[in-house]
Amino acid sequence: MYVHGRHYRTIWLKDGDPRVVQLIDQRALPHEFIVEDVRTVAEAARAIAGMRVRGAGLIGATAGYGMYLAALESTDAGWLRRAGETLKATRPTAVNLSWAVGRQLAAMDSAEDKIAAAFKTAARIADEDAEFCRRIGGHGLPLLADISRRKGGAPVNILTHCNAGWLAFVDHGTATAPIYAAHDAGIAVHVWVDETRPRNQGAKLTAWELAQHGVPHTLIVDNAGGHLMQHGRVDIVLVGTDRTTRTGDVANKIGTYLKALAAHDNGVPFYVALPSSSFDWKMRDGLREIPIEDRGSEEVKFAEGWQNGARAEVLTAPRESPAANPGFDVTPARLVTSLITERGICAAGEAAITALFPEHA
Ligand code: MRU
Repeated sequence: MYVHGRHYRTIWLKDGDPRVVQLIDQRALPHEFIVEDVRTVAEAARAIAGMRVRGAGLIGATAGYGMYLAALESTDAGWLRRAGETLKATRPTAVNLSWAVGRQLAAMDSAEDKIAAAFKTAARIADEDAEFCRRIGGHGLPLLADISRRKGGAPVNILTHCNAGWLAFVDHGTATAPIYAAHDAGIAVHVWVDETRPRNQGAKLTAWELAQHGVPHTLIVDNAGGHLMQHGRVDIVLVGTDRTTRTGDVANKIGTYLKALAAHDNGVPFYVALPSSSFDWKMRDGLREIPIEDRGSEEVKFAEGWQNGARAEVLTAPRESPAANPGFDVTPARLVTSLITERGICAAGEAAITALFPEHA
């Protein structure tokens, strides 16, 4: 996607030095655009744990490049296995992380030249992520075109939660891919952007990327969605996911479930966009099986923003009050209208999902 008119992916190898990975430090957005060098697997793990990079697809791509950096440090099998464990321990919910580590270990295991195999696999994971997101845009576009036709060309109002945009992947994003595709095709769209407390990925990241691309949008507080749906001001909800079971239960940023309930109550279609790397093919019961990240209470009690040219934090709650901070929730498959994948759209159910991905049947 474009930042100030220049094309970027979210992760890449440094020009002229392929031993260095570069990424955008998303903690500084939208106020500063900082590119950071990552040279070791420990630095890659820190980038994920510290949320310089976040979002399911980008966490997976960073893990892919992290394993390549690990191989540059040593190709000893024990070291590589431990490096994979270090990466996997950083964040529990997005399944793309363990998927990418597993793919790298398998590629290196069977290769004579482990560094070359890791290099190729990291690039392949990133390229596939970008390409799958582009295809998701192509499959989702007719949905928005159809709503636009029914509205006689009036703007299609889409509600999205958190950031399942290009910043959460390598390029295009998932929930945003159909939006960018529709906008680029001349279809009038307007996006309601949930601010997404406590880290405000919607306010900081989704609003910024939509603005960079010139997509009309309006920022709303997390609790406004239900009200807007009751008044017919949302045509479709489009979100991403960090892990979806083979039965179609969807883990996504905390608050997604409430949007799905409101959408269900108001007859608003609720779509989830995901690449196949976000399916957990081993899980059937999302509520009981998907690990939900528990984050620190500081994120709830402090608001972070920009003041006098620097990042600043302010306390918004009584210092002594305890705060709980589950990072994700699970929307049961019955509340999901359909899934948009790189292979097409399917119902959120095991038969339909495995019909699209028969290799996992
Ligand atoms: O905690 P984050 O920022 O890594 O959470 C990820 C998300 O932005 C969302 O849950 C998103 O909707 C799905 S990830 C593509």
